[in-house]
Amino acid sequence: MNDWLYSDTVKDHFINPRNVLETDEADWPSDGRGIVGNIRCGDQMLILLRISDGVITDCRWKTYGCASALASTSILSEAIIGMSIEDAYILKPEDIVSKLGGLPTNKIHCSVLGDKALRTAIDDYLERNKLPPLKGQENVEVICSCLNITDRDIEEAYKAGDRSWSDLQARTKIGTACGSCKERTLEFLHELEHLYGE
Ligand code: FES
Repeated sequence: MNDWLYSDTVKDHFINPRNVLETDEADWPSDGRGIVGNIRCGDQMLILLRISDGVITDCRWKTYGCASALASTSILSEAIIGMSIEDAYILKPEDIVSKLGGLPTNKIHCSVLGDKALRTAIDDYLERNKLPPLKGQENVEVICSCLNITDRDIEEAYKAGDRSWSDLQARTKIGTACGSCKERTLEFLHELEHLYGE
């Protein structure tokens, strides 16, 4: 697909986003709340969940984000209603992107906000109800297959202060074998900037 073309599904969800929070948050009591993102990058995501017997029965969301973030969260919100929290927890951004009929490659990082906010909301629900955490059960992406370095390893390194390819190499040795993981690593660093900001 052309880098700057949006599919009809993306346009439909952008123009008619589903399950948007249209009231004050306080007027929509929820069982789980997740907020992620970096307002200074212009994107932040709030997801509220209603959960009954471990199943998501309703959700609302609000974002200060781009068309891709809006569309991917809208489709995510439709997909998770009726889903168990265990299944929702392991949804990957790629699952949402494929439901959207693809996203421009430079926009895929926008779709990670929704699934991060979703997991944060489920974590919140589990914590509020003193239930065992699901953390660690989300799908892990191996980014550097030569050294078996995952997205979670890079996220930890980011939280520890790494911001560049050379920072990451110094800490993890990523990319020091075939080097083919550099492009995906830099893209993932950019996703983390959107999530956490500086
Ligand atoms: S995939 Fe990372 S060095 Fe080969």
